[in-house]
Parts: sequence; structure tokens; C-alpha cells
Amino acid sequence: MCGIAGYNGKQKAAPILIDSLKRLEYRGYDSAGIAVFDNTSIKVYKDKGKIAELEKGLPDITGSVGIGHTRWATHGRPDKVNAHPHTSGDIAVVHNGIIENYQTLKERLVHSGYTFVSETDTEVLAHLINHYYRNNLKEAVMSALKDVTGSYAVAVLRGTEMVAARKDSPLVVGLGSGENFIASDIPAVLKYTRNFILMDNMELACVYPDEVLFFDINNKPVEKAVTIIDWDMEAAEKSGYDHFMLKEIHEQPVSIHGAFAGRISELEGNIIFEDMGLSGEQVKEISRISVIACGTSLNAGLFGKYLFEHLAGIHVDVEIASEFRYAHSPPGSLVIAISQSGETADTLAALRQAKSYGSGTIAVTNVIGGTITREVDCVVYTRSGPEIGVAATKTFTSQLIVLYLLALYFGKLNGKISTDKIKRMISSLKKIPAQVTRILENREVVRECAENFASSNDFFFIGRTFNYPIALEGALKLKEISYIHAEGYAAGELKHGPLALISGKTPVVAIATRGLTYDKVVSNIKEVKARDAPVIAIADENDIEIEKYVDMVIRVPAADEILSPLLSTVVVQLLSYYVARERNCSIDQPRNLAKSVTVE
Ligand code: F6R
Repeated sequence: MCGIAGYNGKQKAAPILIDSLKRLEYRGYDSAGIAVFDNTSIKVYKDKGKIAELEKGLPDITGSVGIGHTRWATHGRPDKVNAHPHTSGDIAVVHNGIIENYQTLKERLVHSGYTFVSETDTEVLAHLINHYYRNNLKEAVMSALKDVTGSYAVAVLRGTEMVAARKDSPLVVGLGSGENFIASDIPAVLKYTRNFILMDNMELACVYPDEVLFFDINNKPVEKAVTIIDWDMEAAEKSGYDHFMLKEIHEQPVSIHGAFAGRISELEGNIIFEDMGLSGEQVKEISRISVIACGTSLNAGLFGKYLFEHLAGIHVDVEIASEFRYAHSPPGSLVIAISQSGETADTLAALRQAKSYGSGTIAVTNVIGGTITREVDCVVYTRSGPEIGVAATKTFTSQLIVLYLLALYFGKLNGKISTDKIKRMISSLKKIPAQVTRILENREVVRECAENFASSNDFFFIGRTFNYPIALEGALKLKEISYIHAEGYAAGELKHGPLALISGKTPVVAIATRGLTYDKVVSNIKEVKARDAPVIAIADENDIEIEKYVDMVIRVPAADEILSPLLSTVVVQLLSYYVARERNCSIDQPRNLAKSVTVE
């Protein structure tokens, strides 16, 4: 995920910007750059690769005002031209987030005579601000941002003037004495100050050495409170959360939005995958897809199977990558390799095996430039930002979103789904980030539940259809970080064997949100209750009936049946997290596990 730094004061800006950017390195990046006003003009230094390399090539820059950026590529390759800052005339811009309508804006600006050098959405912003500039930087930024759909944290430099703004992407202002800072997060500048102002959505800050003035997008002054931070550096990197995993669970409203932003058009009922370049005829020829993946990504793949079969009428085989590479039968004509790291050796080996049959290949991954991205025909990035906790959380929900979009895209192209239905499904999708936020706000219920059951030795997670992969994922998460034995089962399969294990000592987490199989799941709940199992139901917030059959209910907002598994996912993630915390486990680095598994 990109990082922003800014400085306006009396010291040399460049070393402070470089130092701040280094403190944002943990977020992950593929290129970096700074722009400093050296009392004559803005000087830009940027390149792909590490900040330390950029630093080595810097001359002695005298200016005391500047902006900096670490880029995690979304639009355009990770290279020097696409690295930030981007300039237009004497204006320099760094930006995090995604400008969803950048194509439309770009066409408008090209028509007005602007020349684009990069493939980024950010360059649009630089030209747009330049376009509106009439001797007032703040007002030019306001006018430009009013034209933008999407998310942004942005820092703009012109001469000694610096303006920052945000919408759905984090940005803080650090207050010093005779100097002020901006940054994507607190740790970036915690070395210089402990006094911070946390910017809210649609706010702008004019940052001068001796004061910072805040405005709303309509130029109305805004009063802001100062927050004094007493965290140490390690706590600061986790933004005050006790663990990266909890931080990453909480980042999901933003990461989920990032996964679909710019890829949907509700007005036209369209899914946009520009790089895919598939025609309706080509999609009609795909009669079978093979998904290859491991672990959590495999669970996402199983969810993908339900999606593709339901929405696009295409049969999907989900293959465990480490097994598939020894298979003797050919995969489907299209193979989707899912891997958050893009480096998993088992998935790579299976992918190479699939390619030997001549199948077309798509990678769904989070890491730009990962090995997997270099071996497939097409890459769809999940855009979750870096995930530090070993247990995958936000990358999983982003994988679910990407698969949802792909299934809709294929279904539209092969005529299996109507434009009207896509419009309705996009409308439901857009509600998910806010619904996830509501679950996170109610996390105390999940924590209490975890407290009650943390001493259990065995757990079961059950669900049917779209919720079955989430039951598997719930069990996997719990195993990984709490070391409790847990099984995920298709609820209807319990009676074919595992029911023998059910007793008063095996809590059962039943995903019982409303949908086609709701009544059947309730019957399965009754089966386990009859064997004395304590049952925790994940159910819709308006489902009063369910209380009669279970011991605890964790409620989620009512959502479309196909999308509500995303909400249940957040619950099982929180449950695993709180159980592991009760048991004092090493949550971010569980024993025996690694974030990137590069051995077969
Ligand atoms: C679970 C987890 C692992 C990975 C698996 C595949 O939390 O992280 O199960 O999902 O090792 O990794 P990727 O997705 O990087 O291929």
C-alpha cells in the first residue's frame, strides 16, 4: 500500500522525507520518490526499487518544503515513470488510493492539451489541479477533487505551499515547532512529534511551517482537535492495535473497497477488466475452469466455484495445488491461480503443469511483480495493501471480491446474467464495506464468545453452499493462530461421520445467514444440539427465531446471499483472533508457519 510523507519547516526537507518514507516501508512498495522546492523550482527524484537506493543517488538539496511517496503499483508498472511524485507545470502531486473515473478525466485533459507521460491515475490529478490553478493552490485542489470519484490521500506542492487532502485513504498531520508534517500514518513522523491531527474524509489541510489550516471540500474552515500519541514505535506501526492481524482485520472496509473500486459501473451494469481483453465468443468457449491454490487461497477458490457456477454457468474444479501437479488429466481451458503472495511454490508448480496442457491462465494475487505474475496470461490484483500478519485476513476477503467480479464479468460476456441483475449485485456489493464496519464496531460480542470457548480443545465450523468455504476458512484460521483442533464441514456432511465426535465439549460455529439452505442449516444445528454441542450461530441481525436453537448468536447485517459470506468471514477472523489472544498465542507469527511458502 502506498505511503505519503510531507514536510514544511526550517530544516532540509529531503533527509526528513527519506527518513519518514523508510518508516513507511513496512507497508510494502515497489518505487519511491520525493519532490522538494529548492527556492527556485520543484526538483523531483524518483525511481523503482528501494528507498535506500533512491537516497544514494540524491544530491544535497537545500529546500525546506517537500513531499514524498512510496508506491505500491495499481495503475501501471512499478517503474520510474509511474513512480510519484507526478508533475504538471510547477505543481507536484503524490497520491494514495484509486481515481475511479481517471479515464474520463484523462480524455478531458488530453482534449484540453495536457500531455501524459505515465500510466497512472495520479497524473490526472496533477494536470487537473494545474488546470484549475488561478493563483490559489487550495482552491485548485478543491475544484480538482470535486471532479474525482474514488479514494485518495493526496499531497500537493507548489513553491513553498503545501496542501493535503483525504477521502477513504488515511492521512495525518504532525505538528512541530516551526515545522509541520504530513504522513499516511503516525509512525512515519513519530520521531519528530507526538502531536497529531487526524484528518477526516473530504478535508483539506494547508500546511505552513508555523500553522496548519483545515477546510472542508467547500472551503469552510474546520476546527480540529490535537491527539497526543504516547505509543512506542512498535505499537505505532500497528496503528495502536495489539497485533497486525487485528489491524488488518480492521482494514477490510478499505481493502474490500479497493478490490472493487474502478472495476464496476452500476449505471451501466458493467464489470470493467480492461487488461483481460476477452470477447463474448472466447468466454462462451470456456466450458470448464480449474482453480489452483493452497490454504486460505484454496478456500477462496472454492467460493469462486460457487460463484462461477451460479453466476456464469461455468463448471469449476478446485484443485489443491500440491496435488494437482501430479494429476494426469488436463485442467480446464482456463486456469485461475490464486495466491496472495504470488510466490507459493506449490501453486507455481501446479501452474506450470497446467500451462503444459496449453490452458489460458489468470493469476489473482496481491503482490505486484511476484513470480506468479510473470508466468500467466493475465493478472488481477487484489489491491489489499501489504499483509504482515502470517494469517491471511484482508487478502482473503479481497480474493472473494475479485472472484465475485470475475464471475459477473464472465456471466455477462457469455450471456448468463442480465445487465439489470448485475446492477442489483453491484448495488449490494457497494454496501459491503459499511456492513463490515458495523461488524467491527460490534466486535465485543465476538470477544465475549471467544472468552467463553477459548479453553475448548476442538471446534467445528459448519455452513452450506456459499458459506461452506467460510466454514473451512474459519477452522483454518482458528487452527493456525490458536493451535486448537478445528474442522470445517459442509453442514449436510456432518451426519456422514463427524457427528460421532460431537459432544458437550465441541463448540460448533454454524454459519446460518438467510438464503436457500437456511432451513437445512437450522436442522443441522438441531442435530448437533441434540448431542449437547454448544452452538454459536452467525446469523442475520433480524433473525430472532434462531435464538431458540443456539447458545450464542453473533449477528451480521442482512446482505445478499452471495455476499453475506464476506460478512461471516470477518466474524470467524475476529473469533479466531480473540480465542488466540485468550490463549496467549503468538498471533502474528504462529509456530511453524510462514507468510510466503516457497518450498514444495
Ligand atoms: C492461511 C494462510 C495460508 C496461505 C497459503 C497460500 O492464513 O495464509 O494458508 O493461504 O500458504 O499462500 P498464498 O496465498 O500466498 O499462495
